[in-house]
Amino acid sequence: MPKLQSLLYLLQLLKSPYLIGFYRGHNHLSDADVSRISELLSSDDTEFRNRVVRHYEDNFASLVGRGYGSSFASGRMAFFSLMKSLRIGKGDEVIIPGFTCSVVANAVFRTGARPIYSDIDPDTLGSDASAIARCITPQTRLIVAQHSFGIPCTIDEIADLAKSKGIFLVEDSALALDSRLHGKSVGTWGDAAFFSTDHSKPLNTIIGGMLYTPHKDIFENVKKVVGNIPDLSKEHQSRLYRRFIYERKNYLPARYPRSIFRETLQDVMRRYSGKPPVFLENDYTSQSSGPAAYPYPAKMPAFLAQLGLFEIERWGGEKRRRQALLLEYLRVYEEAYGGIRIPGAYQDTEKEIVPLRFIFRSPEATIMRGRLGKYIDAKAMWFLDPVVCSPGGPQALGYDKGNCANSEAVCSDILNMPCVLPEGWDNRAVSIFRDIVAGSR
Ligand SMILES: Cc1ncc(COP(=O)(O)O)c(C=O)c1O
Repeated sequence: MPKLQSLLYLLQLLKSPYLIGFYRGHNHLSDADVSRISELLSSDDTEFRNRVVRHYEDNFASLVGRGYGSSFASGRMAFFSLMKSLRIGKGDEVIIPGFTCSVVANAVFRTGARPIYSDIDPDTLGSDASAIARCITPQTRLIVAQHSFGIPCTIDEIADLAKSKGIFLVEDSALALDSRLHGKSVGTWGDAAFFSTDHSKPLNTIIGGMLYTPHKDIFENVKKVVGNIPDLSKEHQSRLYRRFIYERKNYLPARYPRSIFRETLQDVMRRYSGKPPVFLENDYTSQSSGPAAYPYPAKMPAFLAQLGLFEIERWGGEKRRRQALLLEYLRVYEEAYGGIRIPGAYQDTEKEIVPLRFIFRSPEATIMRGRLGKYIDAKAMWFLDPVVCSPGGPQALGYDKGNCANSEAVCSDILNMPCVLPEGWDNRAVSIFRDIVAGSR
């Protein structure tokens, strides 16, 4: 965004009575829950902390299927560790979607292998079997199939393809949890899957990732090869804890405009003061390979695993709420436009979607983002670029313009509505959406 526009946006924020974000804080947790989390942060009892992490891994794995879970400090680290366990490295190719985040491409670069970008299917916004087939070469060691925004991709076709070619298949389920295709959950179709639980994802543990596999030998091999990975430093964990407390208090619509204002200023100041990061942001850069400001891969901190356990406890209710909200958005959208310019998957009865965001597209996307931006955090819409978040642009990560035409088209006209909302805000979000679609706001 040009500087003047950013400044005007910030000033507009100060006048907003509320803003609905895509990031929801944990204001629903009780003080006793928070004490339990802080007890784990300060505990010196390694056995106690490990027990909580294992409990979290088991519960998460049970949410996905009958396999095994191995936690990490982020989804990209889970993916990286899997690739290391498969001894993927120099000379190898890994197929990933062009419609992804730079940290996924960077995980591949960190192994020494090369990412090959495959296009998405506009009906699911996820990976597409025929596009993947076109990317396969004798050097292909692994295929990543991505489910986007809670929508299962055509993972049945991709699984058949990977099997017929004898190539390892991993599902990128960072943006989808508990969604199903033909009644079978995302994450259970491939040889393995990775999930993200950072604060923008279906389960929110501020940062975090999980590797899931139905196969004991793959699980044990990851444990053996990756071994005893380091913890994030105590200071880093304390920063993350403070961030959790901050978001619990401030990531509510009435406080959100001022929070974004404050955070934007803090970000600028941090760039000059050299203060260490809270989030794992080194991996966004172009082809990160050297040492980061934190261990890579790193363990999931136990206090965040406890937060994950609390998130899993309330998942059933959350899932139903998000699905009900999706139906409302769809009803409003279809009344206004019919089924055009929404992913076809929303009308596919073979797909059970637990939405992370509701996606629609518009030839007037820029104007609509501006209009939505008065009520929802439109700056956090995904994905407005292929291999998004790379400061050097997608080309710095080996993506050439034109590589993935569908992804580029979607990036140019995509709009999102949030599906992960604090209690009591679902109706308000739908009514904003109705007015925006009708052109009356
Ligand atoms: C599609 C996709 N895959 C993987 C990841 C990586 O997750 P994490 O940030 O936990 O490493 C992201 C991050 O946003 C993502 O958008």
